[in-house]
Amino acid sequence: MNAITKITSDLQAQILDAFNFRHATKFFDPDRKISEEEFETILEAARLSPTSFGHEPFKIVMIQTQEKRELLREFSWGANGMMSGTTGQLGTASHFGIILASTAETMAAGSGYLQDHYRNVKKLPDEVIEIFNGAYGNFQTTDHKITTDREITDWSGKQAYIVLANMMTAGALMGIDSCPMEGFDMGRTTETLAEHFGIDTGKWKPAVMFAFGYRAKDPEFPKTRRTIADTVSWF
Ligand SMILES: Cc1cc2nc3c(=O)[nH]c(=O)nc-3n(C[C@H](O)[C@H](O)[C@H](O)COP(=O)(O)O)c2cc1C
Repeated sequence: MNAITKITSDLQAQILDAFNFRHATKFFDPDRKISEEEFETILEAARLSPTSFGHEPFKIVMIQTQEKRELLREFSWGANGMMSGTTGQLGTASHFGIILASTAETMAAGSGYLQDHYRNVKKLPDEVIEIFNGAYGNFQTTDHKITTDREITDWSGKQAYIVLANMMTAGALMGIDSCPMEGFDMGRTTETLAEHFGIDTGKWKPAVMFAFGYRAKDPEFPKTRRTIADTVSWF
């Protein structure tokens, strides 16, 4: 085995170890906190994630005070520990947050938000912006038929899930545990974000919650998955 092959296979083993290590952590060791530097790395993995058209139709709300987390407990059955008889991810995670997805107000073709994004984030010249407006408009109305507020918000939510997957993988590579969560009441979470977190929920809706920290104990059950043959078809 030459040096390059050796490095590659070590890296492959490291990647697979990280994926096997990651599990949906139901409760964390409340005394162990993720370092600021490591969590910044997780957030960079989020920020650098790919999004369709590069529109970045998401935002991340971090909820670090227990007082604010408790506002979500009653209607967040996937995060409040009712399944594990603990205070759940809400009570024990080192870091807890919600990824918001852009609604039609921000993500419909031609929106003011997108014009600003093209000009000031992507630094595109006017003629290219015009091409983007046309191509993206066509994508929404014709290719994917995503025109209602719900459809556009769901499309943004798809991007949010890619972001979260990258965050979890980045965490797992550093030995940090995580849990993705959609076990919550969408309407009440939206109301709470508007009322207590100052979120303009006309523009941004909750997509998915997440928790990061260090497991309190190893998972009770081994990981189960379909076989690769049942998962992938080759032609
Ligand atoms: C989008 C999404 C939403 C999920 N919602 C919850 C949740 O609300 N609460 C929870 O404890 N686990 C939640 N899970 C974790 C899954 O149940 C878990 O990933 C799955 O059973 C596979 O187990 P593993 O991740 O431990 O390998 C969610 C996972 C995903 C991807």
